[in-house]
Amino acid sequence: MKVIEVNNLVKKYGDLTAVNNISFSVNQGSICAILGPNGSGKTTTIKSICNLIIPDEGNIKLFGKENKKAIDKVAALFEGTRNLYWRLTPRENLRYFAGIRGLGGKKIEKKIDELLDRFDLKDKKDTVVNNLSRGMRQKVAIAMTLICDTEIIILDEPTLGLDVKSFMEIKDMLRYIAGNMKKTILLSTHDMNLVEEVCKDIIILNRGNIIAQDTMENLLDMFRSMTYEISLQDTITEEQKEYLSKLEYEFYLINNGDALEIDISDSVEIYKIIDILKVKKILIREVKQKNINFERVYLNLTSGEGK
Ligand SMILES: Nc1ncnc2c1ncn2[C@@H]1O[C@H](COP(=O)(O)OP(=O)(O)OP(=O)(O)O)[C@@H](O)[C@H]1O
Ligand SMILES: [Mg+2]
Repeated sequence: MKVIEVNNLVKKYGDLTAVNNISFSVNQGSICAILGPNGSGKTTTIKSICNLIIPDEGNIKLFGKENKKAIDKVAALFEGTRNLYWRLTPRENLRYFAGIRGLGGKKIEKKIDELLDRFDLKDKKDTVVNNLSRGMRQKVAIAMTLICDTEIIILDEPTLGLDVKSFMEIKDMLRYIAGNMKKTILLSTHDMNLVEEVCKDIIILNRGNIIAQDTMENLLDMFRSMTYEISLQDTITEEQKEYLSKLEYEFYLINNGDALEIDISDSVEIYKIIDILKVKKILIREVKQKNINFERVYLNLTSGEGK
């Protein structure tokens, strides 16, 4: 089921087109990441979904309804934990936020405790946010998005500027929110580790356009199947090198000539490559598909500028 639908969204600032006619949807239960270089339109898209920016064209639906009529289905966190009052404690912040949405009483107090305990903020419930570390503040800020129990959680750069430990905690928090609390998460980030480890669906923006939109698995597969590493029994000779350089395939020498790397478009081509190597008695020790990380995929896509 599609819980967020963005249809032909356009947002311009004067002559600048921040978002250029993009369409995508997010399925219920997904952790969906919007990626893209600085200024590519991520925040503009997210704010449009939250009805904080009025688009020039297009429309956004939440659970099939116009977004402004269904905004109670969404809780959002924007860059820099600005949803928190720094002079209030985590408990007071959550209570206040629930209050704005008309929720209060014992049930909410219990929920505040549960949330803060769940995310390891037990000892900090009554410390003013100003005196918390950046990582703790970020956890409180994310907990805030959960107090009203909305079905969609939107997070703009949730791990920006965090150390390794806080990063791990936020990552686990996101997994818990999607997996155990059964929420749909849409987030923007530059953090490829976060994307690789927790996100299922990926949207890559570049200059206001969507240049890739697929599952993490498919994006990795698409690139993984292209690059092979062939380890050799013996270091390649000058003569063999010369022979390879004249072929239609581009061989990259790695490990000082003890291995070759090759990009192919179809995995059956590997048989052709093996035949080519046989001609000059280049003996193979091992053939393996290269393990590529998501960062390489991302760089490949964004450097090609969407071709
Ligand atoms: N209020 C505004 N007035 C004018 N231009 C704006 C405004 N907000 C954003 N822009 C421009 O729109 C483009 C997209 O900005 P946006 O903030 O959506 O990018 P982003 O992908 O979130 O970038 P970042 O990774 O730096 O957060 C940028 O060129 C930006 O300068
Ligand atoms: Mg942004």
